[in-house]
Amino acid sequence: MILAIETSCDDTCAAVVEPGGRRALSNVVHTQTEHDRYGGVVPEVASRAHLERIDGVISKSLADAGIGLEDVDRVAVTVRPGLIGALLVGLSAAKGIAYARSLPLVPVNHLEGHVAAAYLADPALEPPFVALIASGGHTALYSVDRDHRMHLLGETLDDAAGEALDKGARMLGLGFPGGPALQRAAQNGDRNRYDFPIALKGRDNLDFSFSGLKTSLLYKLKDLGEERTREELPHLAASYEAVLVEALVRKLVRAADIEDAPAVVVAGGVAANALLRRTLEDESARLGAKLVIPPPELCTDNAAMIGAAAPHTPAIAYPHYLTLNARSV
Ligand code: KG4
Ligand code: ZN
Repeated sequence: MILAIETSCDDTCAAVVEPGGRRALSNVVHTQTEHDRYGGVVPEVASRAHLERIDGVISKSLADAGIGLEDVDRVAVTVRPGLIGALLVGLSAAKGIAYARSLPLVPVNHLEGHVAAAYLADPALEPPFVALIASGGHTALYSVDRDHRMHLLGETLDDAAGEALDKGARMLGLGFPGGPALQRAAQNGDRNRYDFPIALKGRDNLDFSFSGLKTSLLYKLKDLGEERTREELPHLAASYEAVLVEALVRKLVRAADIEDAPAVVVAGGVAANALLRRTLEDESARLGAKLVIPPPELCTDNAAMIGAAAPHTPAIAYPHYLTLNARSV
């Protein structure tokens, strides 16, 4: 069994995944609420909260899976990218467990983890495919080859999609994280009421840009004033969300076309978005490819996806990982 640990941002996560990486026996996510009053993740607060929770989260992941530490034969852990202090808590816990039991340690890249969530959603899935990762820190398109290697096709030139949602939600006075808050606020809104720009729309590349969208919302809110903004909130939220979704869908469809991909994977926290999921399902005929979007709980940060990436990530044999370090990028 693979014990997987993920602490790259503000979720303390542990999971037990079967050796093939295609089925999770448990998936425990503890989302830190300490950051709510700051309107964003405070790195040092995150590290300390991970430290307090990590033992309990790991114990629960073993209990939920109905196994003990003696059944674990590999420990997989996120080593990059992420908040350095937060990563170090998970890595230290993983090293401790692996060393104490003379087990190998598998250092997993968080982004490869997001993509690997697709193997849990569809155990028959094999590369090659095209993958869109849209999260709070990253927005990029990759082609994943038969050896599971990821080749960058395009990425955001400024803000990540999740970051644009978080910042937009904040401007609209909605809560944090912004993605789910914006989705709720947009529910009864008219998507076509406001015109927000889609950057790099006609460009023949696979890059994204979301900073202009954010600025255009700022100007729109200045024009409207506080009272009208409150009245128009559902329409503003719906229009903003729709444009961001359209930007993602456009480039994903183009990438699938250029790469002639047999399958398309969408991953990362923003892939939990209902409008994005619906739009892609409607587009799937036009995509001409098999579409795999993991269920929302496997899109946002979790450890099952880190375990799913482990079978195709080189392991470090006992005890050579003791000097292994985490990296923020
Ligand atoms: O992958 P993730 O959990 O953490 C990172 O690796 O960044 O992604 C977090 C991002 C946040 O920006 C959050 O607002 C966004 O994913 N998000 C959503 C939804 N749920 C989370 N965005 C849109 N709709 C959602 N339902
Ligand atoms: Zn993530």
